[in-house]
Amino acid sequence: MDKADAGGQAETAHITILRPDDWHLHLRDGGLLSGVLPESIRHFARALVMPNLQPPVVTARDALNYRKRIESALPPESGFSPLMTLYLTESTDPEDVAAAHGDGVITAVKLYPAGATTHSESGVREVHRVMPVLERMAGIGCPLCVHGEVPDSDVDVFDRESVFIENVLDPLRREIPDLRIVLEHVTTAEGVDYVGGGGDSLAATITVHHLLINRNHILAGGIRPHYYCLPVAKRERHRLALREAAVSGHPRFFLGTDSAPHCVADKETAKGCAGVFTATNAVPCVAQVFEDEGSLGTLEAFLSLNGAAFYGLPTNHSTITLTRQHEPASFPACIGTTAGPVVVFDPGIDIYWTVA
Ligand code: NCD
Ligand code: ZN
Repeated sequence: MDKADAGGQAETAHITILRPDDWHLHLRDGGLLSGVLPESIRHFARALVMPNLQPPVVTARDALNYRKRIESALPPESGFSPLMTLYLTESTDPEDVAAAHGDGVITAVKLYPAGATTHSESGVREVHRVMPVLERMAGIGCPLCVHGEVPDSDVDVFDRESVFIENVLDPLRREIPDLRIVLEHVTTAEGVDYVGGGGDSLAATITVHHLLINRNHILAGGIRPHYYCLPVAKRERHRLALREAAVSGHPRFFLGTDSAPHCVADKETAKGCAGVFTATNAVPCVAQVFEDEGSLGTLEAFLSLNGAAFYGLPTNHSTITLTRQHEPASFPACIGTTAGPVVVFDPGIDIYWTVA
């Protein structure tokens, strides 16, 4: 880390770190895919690509075909590797999963409780029905990524993560302790505590937007649909717990942006879609959070080391250099895609970091 002057972190001018990975990304398909892909490959070397397309990516063959579509949308020699996931359904074949993992077609399997989020209708209603798949995955070391919310209409939307941990995740971990699990986009202090104390087989991704916004940002002084995502941002104390976990250097917390593009028309409507699009400014925003927490020293662990270690993958070789400017950086408000415009996350604070 070079410093422009001797003194505090605010004067740090440049930081070079191994190229980051995004451990939770929605790339979509077709016109949205080609529109949003350049935003992720600018800063990230790899991304764990979510399978909630319509129809979802449920078989090894689907994952292979989807990977080919992503690869054909990449510019030549981009150096970017999409890491594929399978969408777990109650009819997923354990042997198909084992073969896909063994062949390197998939990196993980994603569990969506049916009805919990965007395009989760084909997900899991009863976890006991997918036990044979999960047991097979534990046996071969294939990680399970979970959308950690119960979809039940009688559970308050702000409590759905804590209820999931208590009623679904904890019993599952007791039943299959060897299964490697990532609690995706953790949003609560309870989730952070559970993962922090959970042992080597449990990790969590943290998004950019949950480090920066709480539920007031969505609801106070006018409703802001571009801050609406699932799991929904919680109270301030939860945001503070997420920031503490992210900057702690704890090896089982790492970045998964959950960058989830939806066209403006699908967000700014009477029943808007859940999802925040952060691919464009994710890395600068995270750097700002770490600077503001006085923790630039753990930035590389969160962005570039911890996730790869948990997934048992080598770290990247290439690097990126972040520069701290004197003036706030500017990011596009919106990106154009052939499917329609997508609004870029507004961090709501000045971001002084850019990536060369
Ligand atoms: C995601 C999407 O749009 O696909 N939306 C979201 O609010 N995060 C789905 C998901 O990860 O829950
Ligand atoms: Zn997601």
